[in-house]
Amino acid sequence: MHTSTTDSAAFKSAGREQWEQAAAGWDAYSPQIRGWLEPATRAMLAMAGVVAGARVLDVAAGAGDQTLDIARCVGPAGYVLATDYSPAILALAREKFSQAGLRQVQTQVAEGEALGLAASGFDAAVCRLGLMFFPDPTQGLREMHRALRPGGTACTLVLSQPQSNPCIGILMSTALRHAGLPPADPYRPGGLLSLGKPGLIGELFVAAGFRDVATTAVDAPFRLPSARHYLDFIRTSASPIQQILGRLPADARQRAWAEMEERLTVFQTPDGWAGPNELLLTAGRR
Ligand SMILES: C[S@@+](CC[C@H](N)C(=O)[O-])C[C@H]1O[C@@H](n2cnc3c(N)ncnc32)[C@H](O)[C@@H]1O
Repeated sequence: MHTSTTDSAAFKSAGREQWEQAAAGWDAYSPQIRGWLEPATRAMLAMAGVVAGARVLDVAAGAGDQTLDIARCVGPAGYVLATDYSPAILALAREKFSQAGLRQVQTQVAEGEALGLAASGFDAAVCRLGLMFFPDPTQGLREMHRALRPGGTACTLVLSQPQSNPCIGILMSTALRHAGLPPADPYRPGGLLSLGKPGLIGELFVAAGFRDVATTAVDAPFRLPSARHYLDFIRTSASPIQQILGRLPADARQRAWAEMEERLTVFQTPDGWAGPNELLLTAGRR
């Protein structure tokens, strides 16, 4: 989807570096992320057919939160391979698996678009909130397809369209305006909402060779005590907002964060802050 191989390689290397830096921050938010994504994760595992004894590939596994669920679901007779292109975030995942005594999990540093796992006969493959960052998501899906046994199922979870994920629009538009930059295309390749265009992810599954492709939208409000907590999460994760604001002097950056907080307070409720989010679960069979 990127214009050239060089662009794509540079984009990927910058992304990996960001995740290397953000690994500890993302991991520190694991309890909140777990709460936010719990119902969607359960649905993803069900749609992928993750059952006791299954062999499961977890792509862009990050700090391994969903991998823990998969490992418990497949049990000691099953097997899980957790892959990610960031060695730092995968090291945190490994620590978690070893602390939990889950010996059925292995990790492998690998780019999602070049897993090199053809004919490895996995029963299921999942990718939670990773595929939208890939410069070439169709190639990522092809790699998942190749790793599955015939009849095996892949299921991915990505963010949907901009109007259903308004916090991202607020963050982006505020950051760009403060940085003196023009509005960005929300569907630009590799961006948070790049696979949210209605119908797109299903088409990519089909292009990668999957059959029986189906997409379901899931409501997933992110519940936190306040908008400030959400911004703290954004500040510690590998978000494009940091890059945009990184070029500004400290006081200008502070003004941008303050405006974001004010705008995001619209989602404050008597029971805390609830940022609306919609996710897309897509499954397909090899
Ligand atoms: C938002 S985190 C999600 C992590 C985990 N799946 C979760 O839901 O907690 C995105 C992850 O995708 C990984 N990632 C992004 N682009 C990738 C690529 N091209 N190949 C492999 N991993 C990638 C990042 O390193 C990061 O760990």
